[in-house]
Amino acid sequence: MKNINLAFLGLGTVGGGTYEILKMNKDLIEKRTNCSFTVTKVLEMNQDRIKSLGLDPALQVTDPALIYESDDVDIVIEALGGIDFPAEIMEKSLLNGKHVVTPNKAAVAANFDKLKEAARKGNAQFRFEASVGGGIPALTAIQEALAGNQFTQVMGIVNGTTNYILTKMGDEGWSYEEALKDAQAKGFAEQDPTSDVEGIDASNKLSILMALCFDTYVAPDDIPREGITRVSMDDIKDAQAKNGKIKLIALASKMDGKLEYSVKPTFISNDHPLSGVSNEFNAIYITGNAVDELMFYGKGAGALPTGSAVVGDILAIAKNI
Ligand code: HSE
Repeated sequence: MKNINLAFLGLGTVGGGTYEILKMNKDLIEKRTNCSFTVTKVLEMNQDRIKSLGLDPALQVTDPALIYESDDVDIVIEALGGIDFPAEIMEKSLLNGKHVVTPNKAAVAANFDKLKEAARKGNAQFRFEASVGGGIPALTAIQEALAGNQFTQVMGIVNGTTNYILTKMGDEGWSYEEALKDAQAKGFAEQDPTSDVEGIDASNKLSILMALCFDTYVAPDDIPREGITRVSMDDIKDAQAKNGKIKLIALASKMDGKLEYSVKPTFISNDHPLSGVSNEFNAIYITGNAVDELMFYGKGAGALPTGSAVVGDILAIAKNI
């Protein structure tokens, strides 16, 4: 059996969830891939996280060069969060021929071309399935099973925190503050939830979706954006009275060669499939000129659902090494 060495950068919600899955499903993962996986390095300042996952504290490094220059690292799993620092480590890792997996949508969206180019130069694989839609394997499907399509529209609920808040306000009558606090406690929200509630996180994800669906990179800051902080209980009740819901919708469509895109709270009628997407669930609704309409649905946040996509990328890489 082939052994694959892993380095974890960050063992928070997603990094920790990823490692838990590798432990929980070890036997079947080994059987399916004919590979075993060994963690050889961990860049995580919080020793308690390392210990609580049952990892050896001696694996801890504080200098990322000890990861991207190491001979005993095959795949770097970057789950630190942030933009510049993780992007720099990912770029150096890829240039050094290390394969990289990340759920970090902010770093991927801000550095899409640079990281792709580093992967090409380093002859390394760069995968980021977990960066959009958590556990939903939409990015792989777009690039593989759906690669024969010309896409005309991609529309999604791609932020679990805001969907959770809007659902709890609408279905349970919770206040915005109560719902946000609960979403934070459940580990859905970003470290700074401004990124969720102001639509920044959804813009990062839309930027990645557009790069893959339309081969066009649009920087997240160039996407017109409105978050949910101005959505009131009255707005939500108003939508309910009109047989619909308010959802934070990321939308990109291409008509006659013109790409249009936005992230904003949108009225969704109850007979649209996206209206049934509640709580931290996400959905990505795609239209392609061959496949027609298609919807992916699943948990868009949380340790194990997001970790599921990270593990899928690790295994896909392992099989190709
Ligand atoms: N804060 C993000 C969300 C996490 O709520 O969707 C998953 O990307």
